[in-house]
Amino acid sequence: MSTASPVSRKPLRLGVLISGRGSNMIAIANSIREGRLPGVEIAVVISNTGSACGLAVCQELGLPTAVLVSKGRPRAEHDADVVACLRRHNVDLVVLAGYMRLLSPEFIAAYPNRIVNIHPSLLPSFPGLEAQQQAFDYGVKIAGCTVHFVDEHLDHGPIILQRAIPVQETDDAHSLATRILTEEHIAYTEALARVASGDYEIRGRRYVRRDTPAAP
Ligand code: GAR
Repeated sequence: MSTASPVSRKPLRLGVLISGRGSNMIAIANSIREGRLPGVEIAVVISNTGSACGLAVCQELGLPTAVLVSKGRPRAEHDADVVACLRRHNVDLVVLAGYMRLLSPEFIAAYPNRIVNIHPSLLPSFPGLEAQQQAFDYGVKIAGCTVHFVDEHLDHGPIILQRAIPVQETDDAHSLATRILTEEHIAYTEALARVASGDYEIRGRRYVRRDTPAAP
């Protein structure tokens, strides 16, 4: 009788970049701890400011952190330090979680289709800052969030998934942002599970699961 040996895949090591509160980072850490992201681990959390609240939570969660202050430094120089730190921690996938900085072309080239971002709108609507306020002010009836690969343009690369919610008559920009954030936490885990599976390809701008037939 022959027994197949179990396939042991290397864990996917995340480098999570934050600038502030870090609630998406915490949601990902919780998903890992609670077994919703098998084969995924956080190698390092990097903040571009020492005052990011998320850093304190990392300590509680026992996650390795690095603070690489960006203020006052040329983008390319700071990004080179971030990439070096990611490499030191053997990071496979860079996860932007409220990282409020544009990445240099050199950073993006260092991790082609290996950087993901979450944005609190249904892209391509409302890229940039304060997306929830932009959506609310515009008067949209459906809002949501997007997880996408990062390319050289702002909030622009191939979309992995989106989650939508109705805007209610009683909403203000704050309540809308709060409800979108709840969706973000679900969306990021789901998107990372998809990326970790490796079972996808990127056709042009489109993220497609491997079992999806190509258009005739
Ligand atoms: C989140 O709403 C995230 O989508 C947004 O910043 C917030 C960070 O919250 N990111 C962007 O707007 C990027 N364009 P968090 O620090 O609690 O995860």
